Amino acid sequence: MKKQALEFSIEKASEKDIHELAQVYLKGYKGLEEYSYTHIDDVIAYLNWLFRRDVAGIFVAKYEGQIIGFVASDGNWFSKREGKVVGAIHELVVLPDYRSKGVGKALVEKVIEYFKSRGLDTAELWVGEENYEAINFYRWLGFESKDRFNYWIRMVKKL
Ligand SMILES: CC(C)(COP(=O)(O)OP(=O)(O)OC[C@H]1O[C@@H](n2cnc3c(N)ncnc32)[C@H](O)[C@@H]1OP(=O)(O)O)[C@@H](O)C(=O)NCCC(=O)NCCS
Repeated sequence: MKKQALEFSIEKASEKDIHELAQVYLKGYKGLEEYSYTHIDDVIAYLNWLFRRDVAGIFVAKYEGQIIGFVASDGNWFSKREGKVVGAIHELVVLPDYRSKGVGKALVEKVIEYFKSRGLDTAELWVGEENYEAINFYRWLGFESKDRFNYWIRMVKKL
């Protein structure tokens, strides 16, 4: 097993984190602006929506007291394509300087554990068709590409 070089922790997020999360989001999506919000007000509104959807499904990765990544998941999501409630991963971002150190994997594992605790049997997400880094990352974690809508690819993992 690969040694984890970075001693980060995974914690539940709080609405007090919203401004710090917005900065992580904006820095994390540099270069991928076609798939993301770029104005701070839109990012804050989006984060508020994520907290309203499922406050228990949002987790942060912290290193030396600073948020270096987060995942926003949703255990109440009705998937039209699956025809049932699934665990949705709406957002996942890791700061560029902290990538390839297992932070993204740890965040996804945390939400999969959360979905299982909610009795869900499927995880679903949508990823930009040219976001190859994320698509490869999700494949590596066992997600499969299922179908698409415009330039979004739907990926699913059976839990
Ligand atoms: C996707 C993202 C969250 C991954 O975070 P991370 O902390 O780097 O993830 P991890 O370190 O746990 O895992 C990275 C692993 O994914 C796989 N991976 C990543 N990029 C890959 C690539 N181009 N080809 C093959 N495998 C790749 C590798 O197995 C890699 O492990 P390695 O670094 O040891 O080679 C991060 O790249 C990110 O924030 N991207 C911008 C935001 C984004 O696109 N979010 C997803 C929206 S749906």
